[in-house]
Amino acid sequence: MRIELTVNGERRETEIWEGESLLFALRERLGLPGSKNACEQGECGSCSVLLDGKLVCACLVLAAQADGHAVVTVEGLARDGELHRVQQAFSETGAVQCGFCTPGLIVATADLLERKAAPSEDEIREALSGNLCRCTGYAKIFDAVRLAAER
Ligand code: FES
Ligand code: FES
Repeated sequence: MRIELTVNGERRETEIWEGESLLFALRERLGLPGSKNACEQGECGSCSVLLDGKLVCACLVLAAQADGHAVVTVEGLARDGELHRVQQAFSETGAVQCGFCTPGLIVATADLLERKAAPSEDEIREALSGNLCRCTGYAKIFDAVRLAAER
C-alpha cells in the first residue's frame, strides 16, 4: 500500500507492506536512519519519535497508522544547520558513548522540555524512564537534560 505523511515538516510518500513498523519505514524507505532499532518491542526507547506531537516508540506503531499524520524524528530537531539545544547539550556534556540510545533520548528530552521548561529531577527521571542506555550510567545524560533546560 502507499502512504503519505509529513516527516520533519516535509510531505513524503512511500510504498509499504501493511505489516511493517513506522520505524522500518522511516529507516528503510524514507532514508532516515536516526531512529534506532534495538529491541523492536517497545522496551528501550531508542526508536522514539513524535507522532502528531506525541512521543511514541516507532517500533510499536504500524507505518500504515502514520498515513496522513506528522512525524518528527531526531533528524528533524536541528534547524537551518544549527543543532537543537538538546542535541548540543548531549554533545557538550559527553552524554554519548556508543550513541545507540542517543537519538531516542534526545527526542524524549526535547518532548519533555516542550511540555515542562524546568523539570524537577523526578520529572526528568520519569520522562526518560522508557529510554535505556547500556553505556553511560545516566549521570551525563541527566547533566545534558539539566543543561538543555537551563538554556
Ligand atoms: S526499538 Fe523501539 S522501543 Fe526498542
Ligand atoms: S550511549 Fe551506548 S547505549 Fe547509551
